[in-house]
Amino acid sequence: MTITNPADYWGPLWASGRRYRSLGPEEQQLTRRFLGAGRSRPALDIGCGDGAVARYLHADLGYRTTAIDCSSAALKIAQAEQDANDGPVFQQLDIETATPACSRTPATPSSPAAWCSPSSRTSPRSSTAFDASSRPAEPSGW
Ligand SMILES: C[S@@+](CC[C@H](N)C(=O)[O-])C[C@H]1O[C@@H](n2cnc3c(N)ncnc32)[C@H](O)[C@@H]1O
Repeated sequence: MTITNPADYWGPLWASGRRYRSLGPEEQQLTRRFLGAGRSRPALDIGCGDGAVARYLHADLGYRTTAIDCSSAALKIAQAEQDANDGPVFQQLDIETATPACSRTPATPSSPAAWCSPSSRTSPRSSTAFDASSRPAEPSGW
């Protein structure tokens, strides 16, 4: 399926109370195993939705996480569930048309992780968008 305007598609779903399954214990374990400890290095969560994965990367694995989503309704939920003192930085952004602030800096060897919601890959320009946003990630970080 191709979604031509992601914000128009996903916004009403979040606003209507639709929720998506988060990482189960085995997926968390695999994520931890393959990504390793963050040690305050940057991570990017593309299509973060309610921010559950971003919070896991940030709070449990220790990545300095930036999380983006095109839907303001999703980010409102993410912000509401956020620890006021520490947590991912959330940005409203359509990955097809803009580049996250954290991806504008040159890649460094210490920028290991980018996480992408599978549903964000339904965009018509996904390969260009993910190319741009994966610049800070090491190849094994995907
Ligand atoms: C199925 S939800 C998954 C949410 C979350 N990652 C999770 O695992 O619970 C897909 C998310 O990707 C976001 N998304 C889809 N296309 C996007 C785009 N082009 N740019 C930014 N976010 C996008 C949607 O708004 C939605 O919140």
